[in-house]
This record gives sequence, structure tokens and C-alpha cells, in this order.
Amino acid sequence: MKKIIVTGGAGFIGSNFVHYVVNNHPDVHVTVLDKLTYAGNRENLAGLPEDRVKLVVGDITDAALVDELVSQTDAVVHYAAESHNDNSLKDPFPFVQTNLIGTYTLIEACRKHGVRYHHVSTDEVYGDLPLREDLPGHGEGAGEKFTPETAYNPSSPYSSTKAGSDLLVRAWVRSFDLQATISNCSNNYGPYQHIEKFIPRQITNILSGIRPKLYGEGKNVRDWIHTNDHSAAVWLILTKGKIGETYLIGADGEKDNKTVLELILELMGQPKDAYDQVKDRAGHDLRYAIDATKLREELGWQPEFTDFREGLADTIAWYTENKDWWQAEKSAVEESYRKNGQ
Ligand code: NAD
Ligand code: DAU
Repeated sequence: MKKIIVTGGAGFIGSNFVHYVVNNHPDVHVTVLDKLTYAGNRENLAGLPEDRVKLVVGDITDAALVDELVSQTDAVVHYAAESHNDNSLKDPFPFVQTNLIGTYTLIEACRKHGVRYHHVSTDEVYGDLPLREDLPGHGEGAGEKFTPETAYNPSSPYSSTKAGSDLLVRAWVRSFDLQATISNCSNNYGPYQHIEKFIPRQITNILSGIRPKLYGEGKNVRDWIHTNDHSAAVWLILTKGKIGETYLIGADGEKDNKTVLELILELMGQPKDAYDQVKDRAGHDLRYAIDATKLREELGWQPEFTDFREGLADTIAWYTENKDWWQAEKSAVEESYRKNGQ
């Protein structure tokens, strides 16, 4: 695999993957196809060698552009998406357009040109799990986590469009022999994440003199994984995964939101209670948790960045040292949340 297209490669996770490939696989050339929406940023690719990484600014729903690019590549790794649940509750249309039509456009081109396709998706397609405190024995038994066999049950416009895109890929594998794999990953954290998302929002709030905002009581649980570990897993699945298979990616990082926020406050030298509780998200998923046994046992993957406290401290340091990357957008992001009571 010498030439790959990375869609959404100027976003948070996609750009991390591009850096991962450039640093670890010197013979691979990357074409990033990215529309540079509010979530995409050229700076995320700064410093990468121009002879190995090319940025094409364009839309994954542009069939002619996609066809031309796919005809010249060995593989497509598809990250591009509208990715934020809160935005999808305000205006679902871009989610339908990019996540469903965009995926359709890419898999049609891959089918036509016989190109390998990897579909990056989310654990949110499975809906949510009960909180452990509500389970007998606190949920330490079988069935407490998502597995590749868990039934799809998405909650939000975002997660339902991601679920729909996964199902398109599954159908294209079965009906047209599309050479595809799918991965469903849990919540990523690390540098370059847009400040609309939970962890960077709270860090940049504190850096801006704004009190952090916790939805509801903060009991909701997310299964955190460092984005570098996600990138390594996607490369492994792309190169060693079985065609037609779904792999779940997660690093056993379950934490409730209140605990994460209190850790951010502690690491940033703030009192434990220096935050506001704000309006909860509509339809807020309670808990996500990934069983990554298949990925670990079949492909030998294991996470490297398992010290959450250390990863969070590094992430805080990155936002502190890179204010130019986020400061211009901060007031507009907060104003939009404020109008929503959040
Ligand atoms: P992001 O919002 O930071 O980046 C999305 C990128 O896609 C941006 O660069 C944007 O410009 C680009 N894009 C959007 N619409 C496009 C279009 N129509 N054409 C071309 N480019 C377009 O998102 P992220 O958090 O990096 O997520 C990337 C992928 O990973 C998504 O598919 C998401 O569902 C999936 N995922 C994310 C997480 C997470 O925790 N963030 C976890 C699991 C899976
Ligand atoms: O699970 C994978 C998913 O993780 C990805 O598919 C999504 O693209 C990604 O955005 C993320 O979705 P979440 O909705 O879990 O992430 P978010 O950062 O928006 O919120 C994380 C948790 O924090 C969630 O329970 C809501 C809560 N929250 C969020 C914000 C922005 C707050 O309490 N306060 C906030 O200000």
C-alpha cells in the first residue's frame, strides 16, 4: 500500500493518523481530501513533508472529484464527517449530507476502481449502556460492554448517520464485494481536538477565565482512548484486518464526566468545584464501553497511552502552549453554547 487517501485528514483524528503514517511508514504517500469545514484546519498538517502529503480541499460528496482521486490510489481511509452530537441536535442536515451521501460517494468510487476502503466509525452506533451503578453487581459480568455483535441502536442525528454509513459499507461488501473493513472507536482525546468537544472546551474555558460547563450531574460515562492509539489500530486494520470485518477500538478507559472535569481542574490548579452545571444534552447517552478483545487477539493491537492522567496533563500543556490554534474561535463557540443554555 503505497498511496492512500485520508478523508477528513485536516480534522482532529484524521490529522493524527496522517502524522502517524508519515512518521512510521516512510514509503507511503498520503492525499488528504478535506473540505476544511469549521472543524478542519491546515495547521493540523503543518510541518509534514510536501513530497509525501498533499492536501486537496474538496467535498467527499463531489462524485467527479472523488472518482478522479480514487482512480489514482491504493486505499481510502475515511475519517471525514460532521462529528459533534450537539451540532447534530441543532441542524441535522449537514450530518445526513456528509456522513451518508459522502460515504456513499466514496464507496461507489472504491467499488468502481477496486480500491481498498477502511471506514472509521464510532461506538455510538450501538446506542448506550446502563450506568454500572444501575446494574446488578455493578456490571462486572458478561454483556457489560459493546462487542462487534451488539445490535445497532443509535440515539442522535450524528450517531444515526454514522450507523447508516456503516450499514452502507456492510451492504457494499456483501452485494458488490467491496474490499472494506470497519472500525468503531470510543471517545478520543489529545491535541488538535476542536474546542467544541468536552475536554478541550473545559481546558480552554479555564485558560480563558470562563467556568467549565458540565452537562447535568456529570454521571455519563465515556471510554477514553488517546488518539495516537486509535491511529495505530486503524493502520493495523487497514493492513492486516480481514475484509468485511468490524473491529472495535477501545482502551478500557471508562470515566464519568464529573471525574474527568475534576481531574482537569486539579491538573490546572483550580478548586474541585469551580464549574457550572448546565442544561443536559437531549437524549444524552449514559455510558459507552468497548470490548476490544477481537482487535487485541486477532491483530495483536495494544494501547500505549494508558496513563489517562499523564495524557490529560500533556493535552492541557498543548492547549496552553498553542493558544493561537484555538483563541480566535473561542468566543463564538461559547456564544453558541450560551444561546443553548450550555
Ligand atoms: P473532526 O470534526 O475534528 O474532523 C472532521 C474533518 O472532516 C474536518 O477536517 C472537516 O473539515 C472534514 N469534513 C467534514 N465534512 C466534509 C466533507 N463533506 N468533505 C470533506 N471533508 C469534510 O472529527 P474527528 O473527531 O476527527 O472525527 C473523525 C472521524 O472519526 C469521524 O468519522 C468520527 O465519526 C470518527 N470518530 C470520532 C471519535 C472522537 O472521539 N472524536 C471517536 C470515534 C470515531
Ligand atoms: O464515542 C465516540 C464519540 O465521542 C465520537 O463518535 C464523536 O465524534 C465525539 O464527538 C464523541 O462524542 P461525545 O458526545 O461523547 O463527545 P463530547 O466531547 O461532545 O462529550 C463528551 C461528554 O461530555 C458527553 O457525555 C457530554 C459531556 N459534555 C460535553 C460538553 C461539550 C459536558 O458535560 N459538557 C460540555 O461542555
